[in-house]
Amino acid sequence: MPNRMNIAVTHKEIEEQKYYINELKNRVYGKGLKYHIVTYGCQMNVHDSEKLAGMLTEIGYEEANSQQEADLVLFNTCCVRENAEMRVYGNVGALKAFKQANPNRIIGVCGCMMQQAEVANYIKKTFPFVDLIFGTHNLHRFPILLLQALDSNQTVIEILDSDGKVVEHVPVKRAEGISAWVTVMYGCNNFCSYCIVPYVRGRERSRHPDDILGEIRSLALDGYKEVTLLGQNVNSYGKDLESRILFHQLLRKVNEVEGIERIRFTTSHPKDLSDELIMTMAECDKVCKHIHLPIQAGSNRILKKMNRKYTRESYIELVDKLRRHIPDIALSTDIIVGFPGETEEDFLQTMDIVEEIRYDSAFTFVYSPRRGTAAAKMKDEIGLEEKKHRLARLNELVAKISKEKNQEYLDRNVDVLVEDISKTNKEYLTGRTDTNKIVHFRGSYDLIGKFVTVKITEARAWSLEGKVLDDQGSCS
Ligand code: SAH
Ligand code: SF4
Ligand code: F3S
Repeated sequence: MPNRMNIAVTHKEIEEQKYYINELKNRVYGKGLKYHIVTYGCQMNVHDSEKLAGMLTEIGYEEANSQQEADLVLFNTCCVRENAEMRVYGNVGALKAFKQANPNRIIGVCGCMMQQAEVANYIKKTFPFVDLIFGTHNLHRFPILLLQALDSNQTVIEILDSDGKVVEHVPVKRAEGISAWVTVMYGCNNFCSYCIVPYVRGRERSRHPDDILGEIRSLALDGYKEVTLLGQNVNSYGKDLESRILFHQLLRKVNEVEGIERIRFTTSHPKDLSDELIMTMAECDKVCKHIHLPIQAGSNRILKKMNRKYTRESYIELVDKLRRHIPDIALSTDIIVGFPGETEEDFLQTMDIVEEIRYDSAFTFVYSPRRGTAAAKMKDEIGLEEKKHRLARLNELVAKISKEKNQEYLDRNVDVLVEDISKTNKEYLTGRTDTNKIVHFRGSYDLIGKFVTVKITEARAWSLEGKVLDDQGSCS
């Protein structure tokens, strides 16, 4: 049996949480109080917000239609790049009048940015109207802290240094739909030199497989068809558990869960992508044929300075292997431009590898120095204008290739899991192929949650359009 050491400590925590949820219920239930959560950052944060919403729903809060009508506003923050932080400062600052108009309103700020004590203290000092500040390691203590905030006219602040716990059974209120996020591990051990995540999310902690599978089974019973397994580096899942169930073995178990039709996962660090995982992706019918494999840079010199622990050659070899075993696999990536010391020659190597790999899509970023990281101490002589210029050149190339890759789908019939009504045109539905391509098509709303075959008639850089085929294979 994998060890449950992490879980054992959490029973006390969860009992405590239940107690405070009940305490709050007595005060809140039936009062029609509403909450509004603003989420920044990655899927981890999106899922954390679902947990905050779950706890608030248990307490008796309802979701507000807008921030304006909310009695409690929470900002779940991200600090991966400076512009994410700047938006938080601006938006929290703008709440001053909102709080003054009704001092009973509660304003809370949490998430990765608050996990840095100096930033949390700055928020407390600069925006004294903020009632509640907490970090990532104590999310489950939200009810306790909320109760304190309701009873105090001082800012309640709690940032924990230790990150050892995996807390199970926190209530979750998921976004409606057919697809659910499931965290399989927390934290990151990699310390890529530019990245703040290991500092604000702590070391890697895997959830026990029984807890993960139990959650996925109950999601299937609730009608979810797709799960996305989340971790900063899912490829190291299980390495901290005593009897070493590894990520590919977990995937095979998830593949057996009845009712779940599609399995996605993110993110995979190239240095840890095993042959077993590639074979699992090739063999398991529910595991989607798409992988997000951040490359970050195409120059070996920069990759070394980034502490990524692979080379452009080993990355290309890995992609070749993936494509050999899973011929139709779609690839997406993350790329940083303007890392300290990146020369035009280094940047051209990034452009070159993008041309060579031909990604289906890429998230591209200008390097942003993060306090406390190794790269922040490196000499950064490239001007912002030059960095932006490199980003524009890269984006142009990425968009051109994405469009060309999408054009390969023209006239092809693809299986689409129908997700929702299109946001831009109510006559259209939207869904995705297992290669993660967004497809728009006309169809009746009762197709949502089902698989349909769509003949692709139009290809754009970021989406496809098509017509649903009927059972006889003709366009309806
Ligand atoms: N664990 C994931 C995601 C980390 S954050 C992974 O390893 O891929 C998502 C992306 O943000 C990273 O892949 C990287 O491309 C980008 N990023 C992280 N720190 C950054 C920084 N300081 N400046 C610019 N981009 C950064
Ligand atoms: Fe950051 Fe690297 Fe960890 Fe991803 S793997 S979260 S980029 S340190
Ligand atoms: Fe941002 Fe934290 Fe995610 S820093 S990218 S929200 S792990």
